[in-house]
Amino acid sequence: MFNFQLLKSFIKHRLIAKTRHGVHSPFVYRLIDEVIYDFNHRSEYNDIEQLRSELLSDRRLISITDLGAGSHVNNNKRKEVRQLAKSALKPPALAKLIHRLTNDLKPHNIIELGTCLGLTTAYLAKAAPDARVISIEGCPETAKVAAENLARLDLDRVSVLTGNFDEVFPRVLAGQQTADLIFVDGNHRKEATLNYFHWALPHMKDEGMMIFDDIYWSKGMEEAWEDIKAHPDVTVTIDLFWIGLVFFRKGQAKEHFKVRF
Ligand SMILES: C[S@@+](CC[C@H](N)C(=O)[O-])C[C@H]1O[C@@H](n2cnc3c(N)ncnc32)[C@H](O)[C@@H]1O
Repeated sequence: MFNFQLLKSFIKHRLIAKTRHGVHSPFVYRLIDEVIYDFNHRSEYNDIEQLRSELLSDRRLISITDLGAGSHVNNNKRKEVRQLAKSALKPPALAKLIHRLTNDLKPHNIIELGTCLGLTTAYLAKAAPDARVISIEGCPETAKVAAENLARLDLDRVSVLTGNFDEVFPRVLAGQQTADLIFVDGNHRKEATLNYFHWALPHMKDEGMMIFDDIYWSKGMEEAWEDIKAHPDVTVTIDLFWIGLVFFRKGQAKEHFKVRF
Protein backbone atom coordinates (compact mmCIF):
# COMPACT_ATOMS: atom_id res chain seq x y z
CA MET A 1 0.00 0.00 0.00
CA PHE A 2 1.34 3.44 -0.93
CA ASN A 3 2.15 5.57 2.10
CA PHE A 4 0.70 9.06 1.42
CA GLN A 5 1.56 10.24 4.91
CA LEU A 6 5.24 9.55 4.16
CA LEU A 7 5.12 11.42 0.84
CA LYS A 8 3.47 14.45 2.48
CA SER A 9 6.08 14.49 5.24
CA PHE A 10 8.89 14.12 2.66
CA ILE A 11 7.72 17.14 0.65
CA LYS A 12 7.41 19.20 3.84
CA HIS A 13 10.90 18.12 4.94
CA ARG A 14 12.38 19.04 1.53
CA LEU A 15 10.92 22.54 1.80
CA ILE A 16 12.32 23.17 5.29
CA ALA A 17 15.57 21.20 5.41
CA LYS A 18 18.95 22.86 5.02
CA THR A 19 22.20 21.80 3.46
CA ARG A 20 25.39 22.69 5.37
CA HIS A 21 24.78 26.38 4.60
CA GLY A 22 22.99 28.21 7.35
CA VAL A 23 24.16 25.76 10.02
CA HIS A 24 26.04 27.67 12.74
CA SER A 25 26.93 24.83 15.10
CA PRO A 26 30.59 23.86 14.35
CA PHE A 27 29.89 20.29 15.51
CA VAL A 28 26.96 19.86 13.14
CA TYR A 29 28.58 21.78 10.26
CA ARG A 30 31.62 19.48 10.34
CA LEU A 31 29.44 16.39 10.52
CA ILE A 32 27.41 17.50 7.50
CA ASP A 33 30.41 18.66 5.49
CA GLU A 34 32.87 15.86 6.22
CA VAL A 35 30.67 12.88 6.95
CA ILE A 36 27.07 13.19 5.77
CA TYR A 37 27.98 14.72 2.40
CA ASP A 38 31.12 12.65 1.84
CA PHE A 39 29.97 10.77 -1.26
CA ASN A 40 33.43 9.42 -2.16
CA HIS A 41 33.65 5.71 -2.77
CA ARG A 42 35.22 3.59 -0.01
CA SER A 43 36.66 0.16 -0.67
CA GLU A 44 34.82 -1.28 2.39
CA TYR A 45 31.55 -0.87 0.47
CA ASN A 46 32.54 -3.33 -2.29
CA ASP A 47 32.03 -6.73 -0.62
CA ILE A 48 28.82 -5.69 1.08
CA GLU A 49 27.25 -4.31 -2.09
CA GLN A 50 28.36 -7.43 -3.99
CA LEU A 51 26.56 -9.50 -1.34
CA ARG A 52 23.46 -7.27 -1.67
CA SER A 53 23.30 -7.88 -5.40
CA GLU A 54 23.47 -11.65 -4.83
CA LEU A 55 20.74 -11.47 -2.18
CA LEU A 56 18.57 -9.54 -4.64
CA SER A 57 18.41 -12.63 -6.83
CA ASP A 58 18.36 -15.23 -4.01
CA ARG A 59 15.19 -17.35 -4.42
CA ARG A 60 15.54 -19.33 -1.17
CA LEU A 61 12.21 -19.37 0.67
CA ILE A 62 12.29 -18.61 4.38
CA SER A 63 9.53 -18.42 7.00
CA ILE A 64 9.12 -14.97 8.41
CA THR A 65 8.40 -14.35 12.09
CA ASP A 66 7.29 -10.73 12.13
CA LEU A 67 7.50 -9.21 15.63
CA GLY A 68 7.51 -5.65 14.36
CA ALA A 69 5.14 -3.12 12.90
CA GLY A 70 5.22 -5.11 9.65
CA SER A 71 5.94 -3.83 6.20
CA HIS A 72 4.04 -1.45 3.95
CA VAL A 73 5.10 -3.66 1.05
CA ASN A 74 4.36 -7.35 1.61
CA ASN A 75 3.02 -9.15 4.66
CA ASN A 76 3.18 -12.78 3.46
CA LYS A 77 4.55 -15.22 6.01
CA ARG A 78 6.89 -17.00 3.60
CA LYS A 79 9.20 -14.90 1.53
CA GLU A 80 12.06 -15.35 -0.83
CA VAL A 81 15.31 -13.88 0.43
CA ARG A 82 15.34 -11.59 -2.60
CA GLN A 83 11.99 -10.06 -1.51
CA LEU A 84 13.46 -9.20 1.89
CA ALA A 85 16.57 -7.82 0.24
CA LYS A 86 14.40 -5.59 -1.93
CA SER A 87 11.96 -4.28 0.66
CA ALA A 88 13.51 -4.45 4.12
CA LEU A 89 17.12 -3.30 3.76
CA LYS A 90 18.48 0.20 3.92
CA PRO A 91 19.31 1.31 0.38
CA PRO A 92 23.03 1.68 -0.42
CA ALA A 93 23.19 5.46 0.08
CA LEU A 94 21.76 5.25 3.59
CA ALA A 95 23.71 2.15 4.57
CA LYS A 96 26.92 3.89 3.45
CA LEU A 97 25.95 6.98 5.42
CA ILE A 98 25.53 4.83 8.54
CA HIS A 99 28.99 3.40 7.85
CA ARG A 100 30.54 6.89 7.64
CA LEU A 101 28.78 8.11 10.79
CA THR A 102 30.03 5.04 12.66
CA ASN A 103 33.54 5.43 11.32
CA ASP A 104 33.55 9.06 12.44
CA LEU A 105 32.20 8.26 15.93
CA LYS A 106 34.75 5.47 16.59
CA PRO A 107 32.51 3.51 18.96
CA HIS A 108 33.80 0.73 21.23
CA ASN A 109 30.45 -1.00 21.28
CA ILE A 110 27.53 -1.01 18.91
CA ILE A 111 24.03 -2.40 19.33
CA GLU A 112 21.68 -2.77 16.37
CA LEU A 113 17.98 -3.53 16.73
CA GLY A 114 16.89 -5.21 13.48
CA THR A 115 19.56 -7.32 11.77
CA CYS A 116 17.41 -8.62 8.91
CA LEU A 117 19.96 -10.05 6.41
CA GLY A 118 22.90 -8.37 8.13
CA LEU A 119 23.67 -5.66 5.58
CA THR A 120 23.69 -2.62 7.87
CA THR A 121 25.25 -4.86 10.53
CA ALA A 122 28.15 -5.41 8.15
CA TYR A 123 28.41 -1.69 7.40
CA LEU A 124 28.49 -0.91 11.14
CA ALA A 125 31.06 -3.60 11.91
CA LYS A 126 33.38 -2.69 9.02
CA ALA A 127 33.33 0.95 10.11
CA ALA A 128 34.60 0.08 13.60
CA PRO A 129 37.01 -2.85 13.31
CA ASP A 130 37.73 -3.00 17.06
CA ALA A 131 34.17 -2.54 18.29
CA ARG A 132 32.01 -5.14 19.97
CA VAL A 133 28.94 -5.44 17.74
CA ILE A 134 25.66 -6.99 18.85
CA SER A 135 22.69 -7.14 16.50
CA ILE A 136 19.24 -8.38 17.53
CA GLU A 137 16.77 -10.07 15.17
CA GLY A 138 13.37 -11.54 16.04
CA CYS A 139 13.00 -13.84 13.04
CA PRO A 140 15.14 -16.99 13.48
CA GLU A 141 15.31 -17.91 9.78
CA THR A 142 16.27 -14.37 8.78
CA ALA A 143 18.89 -14.27 11.56
CA LYS A 144 20.36 -17.52 10.24
CA VAL A 145 20.85 -16.04 6.77
CA ALA A 146 22.34 -12.90 8.38
CA ALA A 147 24.86 -14.97 10.34
CA GLU A 148 25.90 -16.76 7.13
CA ASN A 149 26.29 -13.43 5.36
CA LEU A 150 28.40 -11.95 8.14
CA ALA A 151 30.64 -15.02 8.21
CA ARG A 152 31.11 -14.68 4.48
CA LEU A 153 32.29 -11.11 5.01
CA ASP A 154 34.75 -12.30 7.71
CA LEU A 155 32.70 -10.57 10.38
CA ASP A 156 32.40 -13.49 12.80
CA ARG A 157 33.11 -11.13 15.70
CA VAL A 158 29.53 -9.79 15.33
CA SER A 159 27.00 -11.48 17.64
CA VAL A 160 23.56 -11.91 16.12
CA LEU A 161 21.12 -12.57 18.97
CA THR A 162 17.72 -14.01 18.10
CA GLY A 163 14.63 -12.93 20.01
CA ASN A 164 12.20 -10.13 20.68
CA PHE A 165 13.83 -6.71 21.28
CA ASP A 166 11.67 -6.43 24.41
CA GLU A 167 13.50 -9.35 26.00
CA VAL A 168 16.92 -9.32 24.42
CA PHE A 169 17.71 -5.58 24.38
CA PRO A 170 17.36 -5.01 28.17
CA ARG A 171 19.50 -8.12 28.74
CA VAL A 172 22.21 -6.83 26.39
CA LEU A 173 22.15 -3.40 28.05
CA ALA A 174 22.38 -4.95 31.50
CA GLY A 175 25.47 -6.87 30.39
CA GLN A 176 27.41 -3.76 29.43
CA GLN A 177 27.95 -0.54 31.37
CA THR A 178 27.89 1.90 28.51
CA ALA A 179 26.79 2.17 24.90
CA ASP A 180 28.44 4.31 22.23
CA LEU A 181 26.20 3.65 19.27
CA ILE A 182 22.69 2.24 19.10
CA PHE A 183 20.91 1.85 15.78
CA VAL A 184 17.15 1.23 16.06
CA ASP A 185 15.91 -0.27 12.80
CA GLY A 186 12.89 -2.41 13.61
CA ASN A 187 9.40 -2.37 15.13
CA HIS A 188 8.46 1.12 14.01
CA ARG A 189 5.78 1.78 16.60
CA LYS A 190 5.60 4.84 18.83
CA GLU A 191 5.48 3.09 22.18
CA ALA A 192 8.12 0.49 21.30
CA THR A 193 10.48 3.15 19.90
CA LEU A 194 10.14 5.25 23.04
CA ASN A 195 10.76 2.17 25.19
CA TYR A 196 14.01 1.40 23.35
CA PHE A 197 15.08 5.04 23.77
CA HIS A 198 14.33 5.14 27.50
CA TRP A 199 15.94 1.76 28.17
CA ALA A 200 19.11 2.83 26.37
CA LEU A 201 19.39 6.33 27.90
CA PRO A 202 21.07 5.42 31.23
CA HIS A 203 23.77 3.57 29.25
CA MET A 204 24.52 6.21 26.63
CA LYS A 205 27.91 7.89 26.79
CA ASP A 206 27.92 11.72 26.51
CA GLU A 207 29.71 11.42 23.17
CA GLY A 208 27.53 8.53 21.99
CA MET A 209 24.89 8.55 19.29
CA MET A 210 21.56 6.88 18.68
CA ILE A 211 20.20 6.47 15.17
CA PHE A 212 16.47 5.96 14.65
CA ASP A 213 15.25 4.68 11.33
CA ASP A 214 11.99 5.68 9.64
CA ILE A 215 11.15 8.60 11.90
CA TYR A 216 8.38 9.66 9.47
CA TRP A 217 7.04 6.16 8.75
CA SER A 218 3.73 6.89 10.54
CA LYS A 219 2.10 9.51 12.72
CA GLY A 220 3.13 7.46 15.75
CA MET A 221 6.78 7.46 14.64
CA GLU A 222 6.68 11.24 14.08
CA GLU A 223 5.33 11.64 17.61
CA ALA A 224 8.01 9.33 19.01
CA TRP A 225 10.68 11.44 17.25
CA GLU A 226 9.26 14.67 18.74
CA ASP A 227 9.28 13.12 22.24
CA ILE A 228 12.90 12.00 21.79
CA LYS A 229 13.92 15.51 20.66
CA ALA A 230 12.24 17.06 23.68
CA HIS A 231 13.96 14.81 26.23
CA PRO A 232 16.22 16.89 28.54
CA ASP A 233 19.22 14.54 28.05
CA VAL A 234 19.13 15.08 24.29
CA THR A 235 21.15 18.07 23.10
CA VAL A 236 21.50 17.87 19.31
CA THR A 237 19.33 16.02 16.82
CA ILE A 238 19.79 15.83 13.05
CA ASP A 239 16.71 14.86 11.10
CA LEU A 240 17.74 13.48 7.69
CA PHE A 241 14.12 12.41 7.01
CA TRP A 242 14.99 8.72 6.48
CA ILE A 243 16.88 8.49 9.74
CA GLY A 244 17.25 10.69 12.81
CA LEU A 245 20.52 11.17 14.71
CA VAL A 246 20.45 11.84 18.44
CA PHE A 247 23.39 13.25 20.45
CA PHE A 248 23.84 13.73 24.18
CA ARG A 249 26.93 15.97 24.21
CA LYS A 250 27.03 18.02 27.42
CA GLY A 251 27.77 21.73 27.05
CA GLN A 252 26.20 21.77 23.60
CA ALA A 253 23.20 24.12 23.14
CA LYS A 254 19.99 22.18 22.59
CA GLU A 255 19.27 22.46 18.88
CA HIS A 256 17.41 20.43 16.26
CA PHE A 257 18.47 20.37 12.62
CA LYS A 258 16.62 19.21 9.53
CA VAL A 259 19.19 18.38 6.88
CA ARG A 260 18.68 17.31 3.28
CA PHE A 261 19.98 13.93 2.33
C1 LIG B 1 13.99 -2.99 8.52
S1 LIG B 1 14.57 -4.56 8.98
C2 LIG B 1 16.26 -4.27 9.38
C3 LIG B 1 17.08 -3.95 8.18
C4 LIG B 1 18.58 -3.97 8.40
N1 LIG B 1 18.99 -3.14 9.51
C5 LIG B 1 19.30 -3.49 7.14
O1 LIG B 1 18.98 -2.41 6.62
O2 LIG B 1 20.22 -4.19 6.67
C6 LIG B 1 13.85 -4.74 10.57
C7 LIG B 1 14.09 -6.09 11.22
O3 LIG B 1 13.69 -6.00 12.58
C8 LIG B 1 13.09 -7.20 12.99
N2 LIG B 1 12.16 -6.90 14.09
C9 LIG B 1 11.09 -6.07 14.03
N3 LIG B 1 10.49 -6.01 15.24
C10 LIG B 1 11.19 -6.79 16.07
C11 LIG B 1 11.08 -7.10 17.46
N4 LIG B 1 10.11 -6.61 18.21
N5 LIG B 1 12.00 -7.94 17.99
C12 LIG B 1 12.99 -8.46 17.22
N6 LIG B 1 13.15 -8.20 15.90
C13 LIG B 1 12.26 -7.37 15.33
C14 LIG B 1 12.38 -7.73 11.73
O4 LIG B 1 12.25 -9.13 11.79
C15 LIG B 1 13.29 -7.22 10.61
O5 LIG B 1 14.15 -8.23 10.15
